[in-house]
Amino acid sequence: MNQGPVVGLPIDRVDGRLKVCGAARYAAEFTLPRMVHAVMVQSTMPKGRIVAIDTAAAERTPGVLAVLTHRNAPRLPAHGRAAVQPPAGRVLSLLQDDRIDYHGQPIAVVVADSLEHAQDGARALKVRATPERAALDFEAAKPGAYPPAQVTRGTTDTQRGDLEAGLRTGAVRVSAVYGTPMEHHNPMEPHATIAAWEGGRLTLYDSTQYVSGVKRTVARTLGMDPEQVHVVCPFVGGGFGCKGSTWSHVVLAAMAARVVGRPVKLVLARPQMFGPVGGRPRTEQTLRLAAARDGRLTAMEHAVMTHTSFLEDWTEPSAMQTRMLYACPNQRTAHRLVKLNLGTPTFQRAPGEATGTFALECAMDELAHEAGMDPLALRIANETAEDPDKRRPFSSRSLLACYRAGAERFGWARRNPAPRSMRDGRWLVGLGLGTATYPANRSGASARVQLLPDGTALAQSGTQDLGTGTYTVMTQVAADALGYPVHRVRFELGDSRLPPAPVSGGSQSAASVAPAVREAALAARAKLIDAGRADPRSPFHGASKDEMWIDNGWLRSRRDPTVQEPVAAVIARSGPLEAVVSTQPGAERERTSLHAFGAVFSEVHVDPELGIIRVPRVVGAYGVGRILNAKTAHSQLMGGIVWGLSMALFEESLLDPATGRFVNANLAEYHVPVNADVGEIEVMFVPEDDPFINALGVKGIGEIGITGVAGSIANAVHHATGRRVRELPITLDKLL
Ligand code: MOS
Repeated sequence: MNQGPVVGLPIDRVDGRLKVCGAARYAAEFTLPRMVHAVMVQSTMPKGRIVAIDTAAAERTPGVLAVLTHRNAPRLPAHGRAAVQPPAGRVLSLLQDDRIDYHGQPIAVVVADSLEHAQDGARALKVRATPERAALDFEAAKPGAYPPAQVTRGTTDTQRGDLEAGLRTGAVRVSAVYGTPMEHHNPMEPHATIAAWEGGRLTLYDSTQYVSGVKRTVARTLGMDPEQVHVVCPFVGGGFGCKGSTWSHVVLAAMAARVVGRPVKLVLARPQMFGPVGGRPRTEQTLRLAAARDGRLTAMEHAVMTHTSFLEDWTEPSAMQTRMLYACPNQRTAHRLVKLNLGTPTFQRAPGEATGTFALECAMDELAHEAGMDPLALRIANETAEDPDKRRPFSSRSLLACYRAGAERFGWARRNPAPRSMRDGRWLVGLGLGTATYPANRSGASARVQLLPDGTALAQSGTQDLGTGTYTVMTQVAADALGYPVHRVRFELGDSRLPPAPVSGGSQSAASVAPAVREAALAARAKLIDAGRADPRSPFHGASKDEMWIDNGWLRSRRDPTVQEPVAAVIARSGPLEAVVSTQPGAERERTSLHAFGAVFSEVHVDPELGIIRVPRVVGAYGVGRILNAKTAHSQLMGGIVWGLSMALFEESLLDPATGRFVNANLAEYHVPVNADVGEIEVMFVPEDDPFINALGVKGIGEIGITGVAGSIANAVHHATGRRVRELPITLDKLL
């Protein structure tokens, strides 16, 4: 009878059946009566002013209902710029003026009775604009670099000790510049919004990582009461950060629906995913490291140059991990921005740590090489129990255990330290290491749990499932806290009318929402026990709280195991019970430094003549707190490693410097790994009990998987070939 806890077990996704049957409904799959279709028209020049848009031919196109341009679009409060509220809000382009700030900026919306008619109408638009001189060259823009007022997850610059003295003291030094290219998120499901008005109330079916953020941003932009905006998003086909902000198309869909008086569906085409919905900016990272003969760091400098748009400052926070990852008394980190005529970049798959660990972990590898040290021994020599920047202990840090477990599993000991020394037939073999890390974020969240007379429970929170398993793990958390079997618990999310939860970004959903779901379930459980005690018809009438418990859907007595009653019987008499709870992170965030850690070991094979790179094997070992579901967690980390491989070898958005157009804005030419590119990936979890982070000990695993991977692979390529490639992606031409 006793079922034991389900948290941690590798249970199947509770929404798996819906997904394989095609019954999981994504934003663009909702259909509403009288719904029509909108197409977003974009600028084809990087900077200028619109002189005229001739809409006559478009308006005559069969089926076209409206053409919105800056001439006739509804005027918005504060020029449509009222909503900026990071991380949910971005500066949007909402047809309020004639300015063009980037190629791909929305400049018109065509609405028609079918998608094809809307596309026809869009093609018939004639736009005349005066071009202006655009900034598209990162190099040329560098003299204008400036420090941003703030960086997403911390201060712009940091300093401790005496950097120059530390550099002088060191016996070995490395100084190098690393580059990462512009990238775009490209989830399988593109952005999509359906907007429907009923009087003054707006419903949005939107693919988003943040239903409450869309609600707030749209309300503020349109000058509405947020309670009049309802956002629905039961499923997301991947987000990777681009769906963490509310972009122009969401508001444009609402504006178009208002104008035509019918529900409007606006789905971005794949090429439209490159520009108006964020991306990863280019980074140029200068690393200067120095260490004593024994490998202990005496100085670290990490200076980041990256770009933003002319609309707004957004900074890729690439130096963040350098502040806390290794012991080092003397350090300087800095972020600088240049402005380019491109769409505003945004959070993308471990913003900061993905690009930053590439540079840092390569530099550490170069330092190990200079020092004649094993790269793993160098990392271990710089281990620290305290966050050297915040001067606080880590809430938990299992990095040494990750190194040990990963190295053992991978067979690191067989690595011959000399580059170009290992072979497999004609292939050069390289083994590389990179450290993974990501902050263990948490925000306030709320949840509701209802206990129903049929013996089932409904748990709810206005969070999101990006495809990673939120539905499943929250069901497990609620079931355990209630003492219900997991199949009698249903979890609902993705609706702004549910108790609010934070953005599913920064890898924080599990660590933020699980505590709220757990607390709400415990509160509902306490009510159920009280109902049993108070009810003269219950066998528990008059019993003490302490002797009662709920297990597998039965109310039971600890004192007398024969006394029991199904919860359904209790609730049938008491009526449905409900608890709503909000939880907040506590003082642990001031007393400790909260991060997850891992170690990534890669094996690469390089063809010595052709430069072809294969990655037959990656082993990632992670200390990420408590695992809520071993199966979904494994998938998530494995997916992260694939994205790291992608970053190392494939991804790059190529900009035409003349027009500001991304020339590979499609999935044929924007390369991501396919199955044949991915070798064996092993994911290991080292046991980690973090008593500080939250009651469940959950750290979050959304993004750490991508970190450390590109560095690990780049280091393996160096080991295989003796060639140090400091500019991603590592394509074969760079090895020839
Ligand atoms: Mo993640 S890039 O913080 O959505």
